[in-house]
Amino acid sequence: MASSHLPASAVAVLHRETANKHTSPNACWPAVAALRLSSKRRAVLNVICENMISIRPATIRDVDAMISLDTTGLEDKARQVHIRSWVAAEKAMVGEIDGVVVGYAVIEYTFFGQGFITMLQVAEAHRRRGVAAKLLMRLESACRTEKLFTSTNESNAPMQRLLDAVGYLRSGTVYNLDEGDPELIYFKRIANDR
Ligand SMILES: CC(C)(COP(=O)(O)OP(=O)(O)OC[C@H]1O[C@@H](n2cnc3c(N)ncnc32)[C@H](O)[C@@H]1OP(=O)(O)O)[C@@H](O)C(=O)NCCC(=O)NCCS
Repeated sequence: MASSHLPASAVAVLHRETANKHTSPNACWPAVAALRLSSKRRAVLNVICENMISIRPATIRDVDAMISLDTTGLEDKARQVHIRSWVAAEKAMVGEIDGVVVGYAVIEYTFFGQGFITMLQVAEAHRRRGVAAKLLMRLESACRTEKLFTSTNESNAPMQRLLDAVGYLRSGTVYNLDEGDPELIYFKRIANDR
């Protein structure tokens, strides 16, 4: 896959780190992730990788990719219907690396009229590269309300860590949705009230 729009320095570092002939960061990253790099070198790579992530509104052409990367998308017909309707209603953003869709997020305003991030998914092979954080930033700047909410299961430690890391606050618990796995509500006050 061509990487011509990537900074040459980024491709050079990825090549050096992976010591192979791949020309695509998408092809390189599994190898990079498997490397035992010093924290300083990994931090440099993470900055480079973050700069390669682009966020844009989802279009109908992204639906198959969104279904494929979603943790339940391939087997859950209801999720597929939701993804199609979110995209049609222009509620979804996708995150791309090297022209490949690797994550998506959805914002709605059906939660007491407030912004609510209904869904956030990043393909397993592309996690811990800042894709979710960048998707959240984009939704925050697009959010039409002063308050933005989201939620996750008590069992979902990665999502809780992410929300803590990017400044969301706990804002209550809803029981009896998923049996034995309460839903934790999170909140962030957005500066750009519209
Ligand atoms: C939760 C999820 C969206 C995170 O996506 P991601 O792109 O890997 O997250 P990021 O790379 O932007 O993470 C940013 C920060 O969040 C925290 N974080 C994210 N995932 C983490 C994990 N598995 N363990 C610890 N901290 C984590 C870290 O502080 C991370 O920064 P660092 O990598 O520099 O340490 C992803 O794991 C996912 O898609 N999970 C399955 C679907 C899901 O559960 N969605 C949420 C509920 S709808």
